Amino acid sequence: MARKHSSAGKEPGSAGGPAASRAARLARELEEHNRRYYLLDDPAISDAEYDGLLKELEQLEAEHPGLRHPGSPTQRPGTAPLESFEPFTHLRPMLSLANLFDEQELGEFLERVDKGLSGESCDFVLEPKLDGVAVNLLYQDGRLLAAGTRGDGRRGEDVTANVRTMASVPIELLAVDGRDTPTRLELRGEVVIAKADFARLNLDRDEAGETVFANPRNAAAGSLRQLDSAITASRPLVFYAHSHGVCEPAGFEKHSDFLAWAGRAGVLVHPRVRRRRGQSAILSWCRELERDREQLDVDIDGAVIKVDSLEQQRRLGELSRSPRWASAWKFKARQATTRLLAINASVGRLGTLTPVAELEPVNVGGVVVSNASLHNTDEIRRKDIRLGDLVVVERAGDVIPQLVSSLADERDGSEKRFRMPRKCPSCRSPIKRQKGEVAHRCNNRSCPAQLRETLRHFASRNAMDIDGLGEKLVAVFVDNGMVASFADLYRLDTEAVAALDRMGEKSAEKLAAAIDGSRTRPLSRLLFALGIRHVGESAARSLARAFGSLDALARADEQTLVDIDGVGPEMAASLLAFFADPANRTMLDELVAAGLRPTPETTLATSEASALSGKTVVLTGTLSIARNRAKDLVQAAGATVSSTVSKRTDYLVAGENPGSKLRKAEQLGVEVLNEDGLMRLLGGEGAGPDDPADEQAELPLR
Ligand code: IVH
Repeated sequence: MARKHSSAGKEPGSAGGPAASRAARLARELEEHNRRYYLLDDPAISDAEYDGLLKELEQLEAEHPGLRHPGSPTQRPGTAPLESFEPFTHLRPMLSLANLFDEQELGEFLERVDKGLSGESCDFVLEPKLDGVAVNLLYQDGRLLAAGTRGDGRRGEDVTANVRTMASVPIELLAVDGRDTPTRLELRGEVVIAKADFARLNLDRDEAGETVFANPRNAAAGSLRQLDSAITASRPLVFYAHSHGVCEPAGFEKHSDFLAWAGRAGVLVHPRVRRRRGQSAILSWCRELERDREQLDVDIDGAVIKVDSLEQQRRLGELSRSPRWASAWKFKARQATTRLLAINASVGRLGTLTPVAELEPVNVGGVVVSNASLHNTDEIRRKDIRLGDLVVVERAGDVIPQLVSSLADERDGSEKRFRMPRKCPSCRSPIKRQKGEVAHRCNNRSCPAQLRETLRHFASRNAMDIDGLGEKLVAVFVDNGMVASFADLYRLDTEAVAALDRMGEKSAEKLAAAIDGSRTRPLSRLLFALGIRHVGESAARSLARAFGSLDALARADEQTLVDIDGVGPEMAASLLAFFADPANRTMLDELVAAGLRPTPETTLATSEASALSGKTVVLTGTLSIARNRAKDLVQAAGATVSSTVSKRTDYLVAGENPGSKLRKAEQLGVEVLNEDGLMRLLGGEGAGPDDPADEQAELPLR
């Protein structure tokens, strides 16, 4: 997402009348939306709506020039930094970009450039407009000195400690043949989270009972703005360079030269960057990018069109907010209008009720949408959404569709306000809302809906990985009274399962084998599967490594727990409460009695001795062992398993039909292993390879 930035100051007292009061109202609204967007990471309206408001204000100011003043959101970038971070002053302001919404506006921009250069020929660099958080990295003699967020364009927040934890940010730039490393460089770019990593992060958070992020941009912003850099380090943040501020000595003639150098100096530059000349070539590249946006691994919200020659850029110059030599081509918002048929309350694993909008199915940018998330009742009230309303839905990135707003003018009076049910839709227990909490909860521990979610999580791929035991079958077991606890799964009667609708002997036996196989899953998986609040996958691994058994963990005191890497006071308290609860103790005893024997992580491999210790590994293609088994082995050997290939990837393990990750690894010079190679490294036989990041791919400016 990219919004114009504002810190609307005082409105001028001069112009009066309806235009002035409308402008003042718009300025106030825009200021509030900026505050929500930039400071709270909690936007209340979509980008398209924001752009609409800004455009209206721009138009008013164009018609009544007296209304335009330096504090208007149309004139000034910016919001103030958070108090908790030190301020970070950019050596050169970080500008924003003017938006182009259609072919005509693109034509006008190109004409202005052409005029400014008196008709000289001009190449343009075309880049994806990455939907993340803008940051400025200050390098002194090639070493990372400091890093700041964009803030108001002149001053942002000092996030040096957090940025240092990011693998894609080189602490030291690599020397590039034929080019001196700048003595002072403000390297600018976007911090993002890849869509696949975002999905995983949210899954982990959801499964650990934490709130999920609305989209990858919010997740990136929230992760970068952590006061505790250990939290940032645990998030899959990636930095892509796209421009520079101060660069001394000024060694580049073209922006494309700068990007090619940055790529070779060890920084990521987006692979879709190209150079083009002429309106039709530019337009078709922009359209191609828009067509492919779903396939890209990061969210983008447009394209950036930049004059390539730095000398031409200088001649064209800058306006107060944005340069004359670059503009952003905005993609169409993927929105549609449809009818809100119902709002259903779904009960989560921890009893939280989430309102989900049931919609008349509608095509939004090629995907049929019939449900949208509404988060909580406060949001429904804030957006004044009523049952029966015509509503606007939006798809942002790969995320669950969002309900943006309702069309209040279209109401006929039959619309009804939504009220959270007073009784749980599943077990009819009273629903409570804790003081100060947004969430409504069902506190009945035996609520069937919660039980279903708890069991679904237990059996899920990243937990006990019980193949074939999905949402539907779990519901059948719970509804038929066959399973009321984890241990019941291990006591299921195969004949009774075979007799179920659409099961049969073969499926029942397969399921029995899958359940049986889960008895010896690694301890970390069991810990994660139990669904202890705040204990996600990676914390479960740390705990399993540190304690080696459930008994030892159950005996640990608070101090011992917080001494473990990745365990904070909140998680420690949650663990203590979990093990202090007699019902949980009984549940664990029952699991042991049912034959559960989790494998301690230490017997999977010894991390110290392993050649994989501290490495980042990506798995792709079909392996002869289950993907999860390979993942367990690699993690137990002390490596991190990532889902995306970058320059910081140490090994790509490629099975059969590896696809695009293999191509990317080859492009980046990442070492590729087959399964045997992986096994050798796991067995401790493999020698440590050379640093695969030495060879940098040339920027493919075609
Ligand atoms: S160039 C003077 N290139 O968009 C030009 N910006 O509205 C400076 N952004 O917050 C920016 N992708 O961080 C540029 N390929 C790209 C970009 C990009 C995303 C962000 C940028 C800034 C906003 C500008």
